[in-house]
Amino acid sequence: MSQKKPEKLVDENNIRLDGRKLNDIRPVKIEVGVLSNADGSAYIEQGKNRILAGVYGPREIHPRHQALPDRAALRCRYHMAPFSVQERKSPAPSRREQEISKVMREALLPSVFTEYYPRTAIDLFVEVLQADGGTRCAGIIVASLALADAGIPMLELVSACAAGNADGRLILDLTDGEDKNGEADMPLAYMSNSNAVTLLQMDGMVTQEEFEQMVNMAIEGCKQLNQIQKEVLKTKYLNAKEADTEKEEEAKEEAA
Ligand code: CDP
Repeated sequence: MSQKKPEKLVDENNIRLDGRKLNDIRPVKIEVGVLSNADGSAYIEQGKNRILAGVYGPREIHPRHQALPDRAALRCRYHMAPFSVQERKSPAPSRREQEISKVMREALLPSVFTEYYPRTAIDLFVEVLQADGGTRCAGIIVASLALADAGIPMLELVSACAAGNADGRLILDLTDGEDKNGEADMPLAYMSNSNAVTLLQMDGMVTQEEFEQMVNMAIEGCKQLNQIQKEVLKTKYLNAKEADTEKEEEAKEEAA
């Protein structure tokens, strides 16, 4: 079932089909530590995207020959559930999923101190439950939080956001409809403190000037998402700390 191409993606007042302004990101809701069997996990709702990430490790590596003598091997699998898109997707890994697994791993690797855990594996699983454009970016955001939740030492969190071009206007954080019907889509991953871009891909044609503006726009989007990521982590650990203090106090009262 394919959707009809809308006449316009951006109206004369520069408002997009979902009511956003050109440089607005979609509403996001993130939770950390949502799975009890994984060492670390996170979940994101971003517009209509629903994505879950789980991390195991650092742990013994199998098969053994994948062990690296001086650091941990970061392995990443991005997978879309068959029901995540309008046309049922085969559960078998597609070329696209293999590519996204590779670029996500490369986007996250510079942030992880893999050298602390030689000869081990850090396994990262990203499951897309519902997709509406920009899933590699949203996947990087939750994957980075899941790594932090697993207690893996990291330089900083990695954020990601796409910028693009639709109806001749530059837009931020594209939906599937904007990606498919627009002129260009450029996902970018970014480490805010280090001011380092760790992923840059592009579909479509833009001028050099537009390209530079899109990079800056995507970086601004990443900075906003980075703030949200940090707040989510802080809230989770402050709540955990408060719960621990309460428990300690209860235990003291019981003992007295
Ligand atoms: O999700 P992302 O933008 O990182 O990757 P993409 O390859 O540019 O895909 C854009 C969107 O196409 C996805 O987010 C899905 O909404 C949609 N898609 C789909 O409908 N069916 C697929 N088999 C793959 C992607």
